[in-house]
Parts: sequence; structure tokens; C-alpha cells
Amino acid sequence: MADAKKLFIKTYGCQMNVYDSERMAEALGTSGYVTTDRPDDADMILLNTCHIREKAAEKVYSELGRMKAFKAARPEVKIAVAGCVAQAEGAEIMRRQPAVDLVVGPQSYHRLPALEAETAKGNTALDTDFPEEDKFEHMPARPKARRAPAAFLTVQEGCDKFCAFCVVPYTRGAEVSRPVDRVLREARDLVERGVREITLLGQNVNAYHGVGEDGKDWGLARLIRKLAEIDGLARIRFTTSHTNDMEDDLIAAHGDCDKLMPYLHLPVQSGSDKILKLMNRKHTAAEYLSVIARIRAARPDILLSGDFIVGFPGETEEDFQDTLALVRAVNYGQAYSFKYSSRPGTPAAERALVDPSEADDRLQRLQALLSEQQKAAQLAMVGRIVNVLFEKPGRLEGQMVGKSDHLHAVHVYAPEVSRGEIRQVRITSSSSNSLAGELI
Ligand code: SAH
Ligand code: SF4
Ligand code: F3S
Repeated sequence: MADAKKLFIKTYGCQMNVYDSERMAEALGTSGYVTTDRPDDADMILLNTCHIREKAAEKVYSELGRMKAFKAARPEVKIAVAGCVAQAEGAEIMRRQPAVDLVVGPQSYHRLPALEAETAKGNTALDTDFPEEDKFEHMPARPKARRAPAAFLTVQEGCDKFCAFCVVPYTRGAEVSRPVDRVLREARDLVERGVREITLLGQNVNAYHGVGEDGKDWGLARLIRKLAEIDGLARIRFTTSHTNDMEDDLIAAHGDCDKLMPYLHLPVQSGSDKILKLMNRKHTAAEYLSVIARIRAARPDILLSGDFIVGFPGETEEDFQDTLALVRAVNYGQAYSFKYSSRPGTPAAERALVDPSEADDRLQRLQALLSEQQKAAQLAMVGRIVNVLFEKPGRLEGQMVGKSDHLHAVHVYAPEVSRGEIRQVRITSSSSNSLAGELI
């Protein structure tokens, strides 16, 4: 393919963007593009962007400033912006950075080949519609190439929850679930190409309600049980979930579905009922804790993960103490925490901010507690025997890196093990973000 055009993609934000970037690369494959990891060598530079916090959105503009240089050197280079900044800011992006040729929102990726053809004629192209059709169904079939052992599969998109701080309902639109047969088809195809672990994705993945083979709406638990029947698929995970959609059946699946891994990301954002209400989370701290207790009853060794926002408008030191108390009560194995970032167009955007130095201080205190818990959870694995799905060679000679059932990265000296194998490993030590062990 001497005359193939080259595509450089840089992905920001959540795992759904990682999945979308793969699918966009495939779609542009039909327009004659192959991917490259060098922007200086690319005919098209595509930034798949995130709008969740102000810093994330601003990063895009500074990166566009840098990418402009490649276009200055070779004017035929096209610059494209996809993802949530594209959806939120649309044509404004081209005004702020005239080097941009193409802007496409997350629901219009199946139209990329047509948009690209427009830019090839020297025009700019913009599409931020929320079309009726299922974009993934209108994307070209995935090429039959071998795949890495762990893959993402988007089953649900969008959000109807409207938390007061969050841009997702505006950038990704209303909640939509993909039909069961399409998910199954894609999962089987992934497994045929070497995938052993699938993480089902959705902004609210446990609100999944796709049309099943019987014409009825299937929930996420039923979908997982069906996927578990696929031979060769060894592990299933899902992310991200909302407390109010954590239904009995899904909790039960954590206890009785062997392929469903003992890890759950269940964000709560705050431990204060007053703040939860101001955030429009629609549940209390006690309700969250009772869901956690039920999950632990079903699967006692589950590793819990969460997201937190500190400094949400109206948060006092007392509210923050409630968050610390909740974190102590749950005892997370891993978690993400952020300082509140005001997002234009969201309900909380007009509210008075917490003093920024106070918010910074709270974030530091919360992160200290969370990292203590993470460390303890990792240390608790030392001496235990775990299953590791090996994904790639490590930095040292003969070393392989994989993930445990609990999603810990594990480094092992294992020259005879190949990618995609699941082997038992005795954990021997824990370092800041990973474990080390030896093959049994
Ligand atoms: N659907 C998921 C979250 C998706 S956004 C849920 O309901 O929990 C990922 C995380 O980004 C959120 O959990 C939240 O912790 C953080 N986040 C979202 N908007 C934010 C904002 N305006 N400022 C700071 N953090 C934010
Ligand atoms: Fe955003 Fe809330 Fe929807 Fe999560 S549930 S994506 S935080 S609006
Ligand atoms: Fe960011 Fe959009 Fe994901 S705002 S977190 S890329 S849904």
C-alpha cells in the first residue's frame, strides 16, 4: 500500500473515546487511510477530545496549536476534531483555530468518510447532529486482523441523568442501548480475533436496556449472562455504572457468573446528602452504602472503585468530612478524584465556587486517604495466587505484563508465556501502581 494516506489519532478522555478512535480508524480505512503513530508523517491528524473538565477542553486548543505546525510544513495535511469538545463547541473550534478542516461529533462518526471526501475537495466539514440511525451499524465491518487480548465494546451511549456538574448529557445525547444481537455479533467477532476479555462500555452502562433476540428489553445482567456463553471469552467487565441502576439481577451476577470479574467502578462523587442533592445524583450516601453492602454480600472479594468531586458549589468542610467518612466506610481498592470544574451550560455553572485553595486542600486530603486504601488493597494481594491475563511484554528481558481478575497490573518473569494466555501467579510484591509475581 505504497500510496496509502496516513492517519494520526490522539485520544483524550474516557474509554468510550478509546473505542470510538478504533472505530474511526476503521471507518477512515475505507477512505484509504492507515494509522501511524507519528504526527509529522500524517496526512490527517485527528484529535478525539474530552470536554469533562475545563483543563481537558483547553488541552485540545494547545494541541491544535502544535499540530498546526505540521500543516504549515505540508499544507495538504488535514486536521480533524472529534469527540465531546467537537460536539460542545462545533464551528467555534474552526473560528478559534482556522487550521482545523473537519469537526465531527460523537454521534456522526459513520459519516466520517463523506466528511473526509469534502475536505479532500478543499472544503471544511462540520457534523454535530444527533442522527436517528445507529452509528456503529453504519460503520464499515471491522477488519479481520488479530486483536490484543483485552478489548472495549460500547453497548450503551449517552445519559439521561443530568447531574448538575456534567456535560455528558449534552455532548453524548440521550441514553441509547445497542441491540443484543449486534453486541453478540461484535463480541463473537472479537473473540475470533484473539480477544479473551471484553469490557462493556457506556456512560451509564448498567442502565443498558437493549432489544433482545425475543423482542423484549434486556438488562445488562441478561446481556452479560448471554455473553458468558461465548466459548473462548474468559472475562467480562463493565463500566461506568450509576448507583440507581444497580439492579438485583446485576448484583446477583457478580455472585454467580464466573466470567464476570470481581471489580466494580461505582462512582458516588460525594458522601454528603446535601451535596448529592445539589448534584442531582438522586440517591443518598446511605443508599449508596446499602448497594455496596449487597454487592459485597454477593461477591465478598470484589474490588471497588469510585469517582469523587471535591469543591462542588456549596460544599463545606463538614460536607467534605462526610465524603471522607464514606470513603472510610467503603474502603476502595482504587478511585479517581477531581476538583470541581465549572462547565458552561450545566446547571451548576452559575453557582458560587468554593474557595480554590480550600478545594485544593480537600483534594489533597482525599487523595491521601484513597491512595492509602489503594496501597492496602494491593498489599493484601501479596502471597495470594491470582489469575493473570497476559497482555504484552514488560520492559525487562523475559518479563510479561497482564491484569489480574481484580484489574491489578501484574509483572511476571514469564518468557514462555504468550499474549492472551491466562496463568496462575503468586503475588510476591506490590509497588506504587502494580504488583509483581511468579508463575505457579
Ligand atoms: N457516568 C459516570 C461519570 C462519567 S464522567 C457517573 O455517573 O458517575 C467521569 C467522572 O468525571 C465523574 O464521575 C466525575 O467524578 C468527573 N466529573 C464530571 N464532571 C465534572 C466536573 N464538572 N468537574 C469535575 N469532575 C467532573
Ligand atoms: Fe454525567 Fe451524571 Fe450522566 Fe454520569 S450519570 S454521565 S455524571 S450526568
Ligand atoms: Fe470526556 Fe466525553 Fe468521555 S466529555 S469523559 S470524552 S464522554
